[in-house]
Amino acid sequence: MNMHSADAATVEEALAAQAVHDTASATEAAMQNTLLTPRFYTTDFDALDAIDVSPIRDEWDALIARMTADPNKGHFKKNEDWDHVDWDGMEPELRKEFIDFLISSCTAEFSGCVLYKEMKRRGRNRDITGLFQLMARDEARHAGFINDALREAGVAVNLGFLTQKKKYTFFRPKFIYYATYLSEKIGYARYITIYRHLEAHPEHRFHPIFKWFREWCNDEFNHGEAFALLMRTDPKLTSGVNVLWIKFFLTAVFATMWIRDHQRPAFHAALGVDPAEYGEEVFRKTSEISRQVFPITLDIDSPRWARGLERLQRANADLAGLAGATGPGAALRRFGARARAAAHFLGLMTIPARRNAVPRSSRLEPAY
Ligand SMILES: [Fe+2]
Ligand SMILES: [Fe+2]
Repeated sequence: MNMHSADAATVEEALAAQAVHDTASATEAAMQNTLLTPRFYTTDFDALDAIDVSPIRDEWDALIARMTADPNKGHFKKNEDWDHVDWDGMEPELRKEFIDFLISSCTAEFSGCVLYKEMKRRGRNRDITGLFQLMARDEARHAGFINDALREAGVAVNLGFLTQKKKYTFFRPKFIYYATYLSEKIGYARYITIYRHLEAHPEHRFHPIFKWFREWCNDEFNHGEAFALLMRTDPKLTSGVNVLWIKFFLTAVFATMWIRDHQRPAFHAALGVDPAEYGEEVFRKTSEISRQVFPITLDIDSPRWARGLERLQRANADLAGLAGATGPGAALRRFGARARAAAHFLGLMTIPARRNAVPRSSRLEPAY
């Protein structure tokens, strides 16, 4: 009689179905708040609730209808395609990095769930609450499914505890749009790139969860479409000084992904993926998609881009290498690494962006 989160029709049911079998270490990892770890967000919910979707009504209704039809209901649970995972036989470095990847992914999925669920709870605008209810439902399923995978390794994140205790970062609505739009679209690009790669090289599929990535990323694609539409209700969001904010978020989201992925060499080696090539491919897809709504794209072909990322990543690796080190020498080196990282990030921001003529309709299909 126990329902699985995959079969839940609402976010409340999906969360209730996730019985808590957490482990302290996983929850502790999910609790971390650094520049590179997934955060929880809160915002001005009244401002979000005041959005009027009538300028984009036709596209809006079509998207909501697609999401309400719920083609992925029941998808996010183990079935006969779920091969046995030999966690004990897994090479220790890979095991560590893969668990880190799963915990971080679960936290990111759940971060979306918490934000969307709160918007649904606080709002009175039926268009907005309807959308956020559907997105929260999807993210609860995604987070629940990753926790299912973690549990086999004897690990799980306590989602209830995180909701209560993890720090919430306040973002103005426009920053939520830029950051969340990008994280949904880059999530799509990441998942589909891995999925297509493993389709061609199944010998590298070291865990069954990757088989679920295609339907998964279609959910993320739709969430991104929703934020593209929200941004199109107000032209000010993508013009004037906000173009600079868009550039900032593009740079921050891309750079964070680059640094995080380079921290997991064993994971990428097991997948048969070079993190640099993978990163470039994901940047390309995300840039192409983001042309549906952003008036600029980053010049990822500039030699300064590759060089800047490389240096930023090295500064970050130096910083990570100092973790736990004490004394004035370590403090000084830590300060130096932070200053270098900040300077390289600023350097990336000063690369001239490419202008983009935004199309009249933002509607896209997941085409990769
Ligand atoms: Fe998700
Ligand atoms: Fe999503």
